[in-house]
Amino acid sequence: MNINDGGRRRFEDNEHTLRIYPGTISEGTIYCPIPARKNSTAAEVIESLINKLHLDKTKCYVLAEVKEFGGEEWILNPTDCPVQRMMLWPRMALENRLSGEDYRFLLREKNLDGSIHYGSLQSWLRVTEERRRMMERGFLPQPQQKDFDDLCSLPDLNEKTLLENLRNRFKHEKIYTYVGSILIVINPFKFLPIYNPKYVKMYDNHQLGKLEPHIYAVADVAYHAMLQRKKNQCIVISGESGSGKTQSTNFLIHHLTALSQKGFASGVEQIILGAGPVLEAFGNAKTAHNNNSSRFGKFIQVNYQETGTVLGAYVEKYLLEKSRLVYQEHNERNYHVFYYLLAGASEDERSAFHLKQPEEYHYLNQITKKPLRQSWDDYCYDSEPDCFMVEGEDLRHDFERLQLAMEMVGFLPKTRRQIFSLLSAILHLGNICYKKKTYRDDSIDICNPEVLPIVSELLEVKEEMLFEALVTRKTVTVGEKLILPYKLAEAVTVRNSMAKSLYSALFDWIVFRINHALLNSKDLEHNTKTLSIGVLDIFGFEDYENNSFEQFCINFANERLQHYFNQHIFKLEQEEYRTEGISWHNIDYIDNTCCINLISKKPTGLLHLLDEESNFPQATNQTLLDKFKHQHEDNSYIEFPAVMEPAFIIKHYAGKVKYGVKDFREKNTDHMRPDIVALLRSSKNAFISGMIGIDPVAVFRWAILRAFFRAMVAFREAGKRNIHRKTGK
Ligand SMILES: Nc1ncnc2c1ncn2[C@@H]1O[C@H](COP(=O)(O)OP(=O)(O)OP(=O)(O)O)[C@@H](O)[C@H]1O
Ligand SMILES: [Mg+2]
Repeated sequence: MNINDGGRRRFEDNEHTLRIYPGTISEGTIYCPIPARKNSTAAEVIESLINKLHLDKTKCYVLAEVKEFGGEEWILNPTDCPVQRMMLWPRMALENRLSGEDYRFLLREKNLDGSIHYGSLQSWLRVTEERRRMMERGFLPQPQQKDFDDLCSLPDLNEKTLLENLRNRFKHEKIYTYVGSILIVINPFKFLPIYNPKYVKMYDNHQLGKLEPHIYAVADVAYHAMLQRKKNQCIVISGESGSGKTQSTNFLIHHLTALSQKGFASGVEQIILGAGPVLEAFGNAKTAHNNNSSRFGKFIQVNYQETGTVLGAYVEKYLLEKSRLVYQEHNERNYHVFYYLLAGASEDERSAFHLKQPEEYHYLNQITKKPLRQSWDDYCYDSEPDCFMVEGEDLRHDFERLQLAMEMVGFLPKTRRQIFSLLSAILHLGNICYKKKTYRDDSIDICNPEVLPIVSELLEVKEEMLFEALVTRKTVTVGEKLILPYKLAEAVTVRNSMAKSLYSALFDWIVFRINHALLNSKDLEHNTKTLSIGVLDIFGFEDYENNSFEQFCINFANERLQHYFNQHIFKLEQEEYRTEGISWHNIDYIDNTCCINLISKKPTGLLHLLDEESNFPQATNQTLLDKFKHQHEDNSYIEFPAVMEPAFIIKHYAGKVKYGVKDFREKNTDHMRPDIVALLRSSKNAFISGMIGIDPVAVFRWAILRAFFRAMVAFREAGKRNIHRKTGK
C-alpha cells in the first residue's frame, strides 16, 4: 500500500467545523459550529443542528449556501456534502473570518407548501426582499430620505414630529436613532440580524453619524475616544424596566471586547462574556414588566492597555433585591437560577442535593391567584396555572448554558456543586414551618422537623444548632446569656432572614470571584497605564400595583441617574454656550433636584426619617407616615392619599408612584443576625463558613499575596533546579 495514499485518506477524513447561521430560527444564536467530515451530508448536519439548538423536530429544515453577502441562496439537497462545498470557497473565505462572512451556510425552514427550492425566480425574490429590508434598515443607500436618523436634524422639532419620526423608523425596524451623541433605542422585542461580526467590522473606527445609528457605533466612539484622548470613558444606560438596558449592555460589552480582539486576545474576553449569563441567572428574575428583569444594578468597567487591548475588567454590584427570595408578587418569579437548577440537574445531582419539583417549595410556589371581577357580584380567580415556565423558555438548556458560563469564569465543578447545594439548602430552609407548642404560651416548634436534617446536611452545620437558631434568640446582657423563644411571626422572619443572608452572601461571593478572574495581574502593576470604559446598567424605573421599599430604592437610583443626565445634557451644555458667548435661549427642562432633596437631603430627607424610625423601638407605620407628613406637608413632590391608606405618593421625573409603607422599617434594617452568622460560621464546609461576612478586599489581597508567594516559590525552585543542572550537584 502506498504511504501517501494513507496520508491523503487521513487528511480527507479530517474533521472540519461548519458555521451554520440559524437566523431567526434560533434567536440569540449568531452561528452554531457543527463538526463535520468531508462525506457528512446536509441531512446529518441538520440533525446535529436540531439537537444542539433544541429546534422543533416536527419542522423541515434545509441548508442554504451563500456566496455573496446578501446574495443568492443555494439550497443543498439532503445528500449534498456541505464540507465539500466549503472546500470550493476561496482560501480568504476559509482563513479570514471577517472577509469570509460573505461565504456561509444558513439554516432555513421549509414551508408546508414546500417553498424554498432551487429555482431562480424565488431566489431572486428573496434577494430583492433582503435588499429591500437592508435598505429600509439603512444599511444600503436609500432612494430618498423619509425619516431622520438624528432627531437634531428634524426641520421642525416638537414632541409630535419627534415621536412620529421615531415611530416611522421603528416601523422599518430601525430601532436606533441619535439625538446628537445620545442614542435612543426602542425595544423591538425580536431579534434583528444586525449584530453579527459583519456589523462589528462595519462600525469599527467610523465617525458617528456616517452610518445608520447603531449601538456598536456608540461603543466604537467610546473606544476610539479613549485611545485618542487617553481618557477613561463611560456609557450610561437609562430607561424603564423592560426597555432593553441589559440587552444593550450585552451588545456594548460584546463590541468593546470584539474591537480589542484585533490585537492579542488574553482570554479575559471569554471571562467577560461568561460573567453576563452568570450574573443574570443569579440576579435576574421574571417580573410583571420584564421576563428577564435585573434585580440588581451593575457597573462593568473594561480595562485596556494604551494599545487598545483588553487587559481585564471589573464588575461593581449595587443593591440586590433580597425580598424576592422569600416572596414574589402575582405573576412574578424567584431568581432564574432556582428554576434552571430544578429543571436541568442530573439524577445524581437531584439525589445529592435532595431536589424536589418547583411547586413543592414555599419560596417558589407562592404565586398568588389574583381575583378577577367579571361582574359586580361574581368573582372568579385568574385561572393561570402557574408561572414556573416563561413562554419560549427552555430551562434545561438554560441550565447547561449557565454551567458553561460558570466554567468560562473559572468556577470548577466542585465549586459549582457547592453553589447548587447551597441553593437547595435555601429552598429547603424556606419549607420549614412553625406551630405554637401550646395554646397557653407563645413558645413554638417546627411542624416539619424532617426538613432539618436535610438543611443541616446541605449547610454542614449541626442539626441542634440549626434548630436553636431557628426557634430561639440568644442575647448577652451584662455577664448574663439569655435564651428567649421567638414568637411565631418572629421565627418566620428569622428563617427568611437566614435565607436572604445566605443568598445575598452567595451573590456577593460570585461577583467577587468573577472580579478575581477578570482582574488581570497587570492591572495591579502601578507602572502599567490602563484606560477604561465603564457601562452602567441598573434596574429600570418601576411602578407596580403595589410598590414597596424596593421600588422606592430602585426609583431613587433612577432619579439620581436622571439628575446626572440633566446635569450633563442641559446644564453643562448651556453653561458652555454661555461661557463661549454663543447666543442661546435657555431650555426649560424638568429639574429633579427637589425630588432628590426630598428623598435624601440631610437631615429631613425621607431616607433619614426612615433611618430614625427604624432605630426607634416604639415606631409604627403610622408614626413613620406622620413624620413624613409633618416634615414635608408643603412639598409639592410628595402627596398623601385622600383615603386613609398607609402610603405616600412621590412625583418622580417619570411619573407619580404610590408606595405602601408596610415593611419599610423592617426592610431598611434587614441586617444579618448575629445568631445566624455564628451558626453559618460554624459550618464544616469552608465554602459556606468563608462566604459569610467575607471582607472581599481582605480576601482578594490575601489571594494576590498567596499567588505571589506561590510564584516566588516556583521561581526559586526553578532557579535551584537550574543551578543543580548546571553544576551537576
Ligand atoms: N435590541 C434588542 N433586540 C431584541 N430584543 C431586545 C432588545 N432589547 C431588549 N430586547 C428584549 O426585551 C427584553 C427586556 O430587555 P432588558 O432585560 O434588557 O430590559 P431592562 O431595561 O434591562 O429591564 P430591567 O430594568 O427590568 O432590568 C429582553 O429580554 C429581550 O427579549
Ligand atoms: Mg436589566
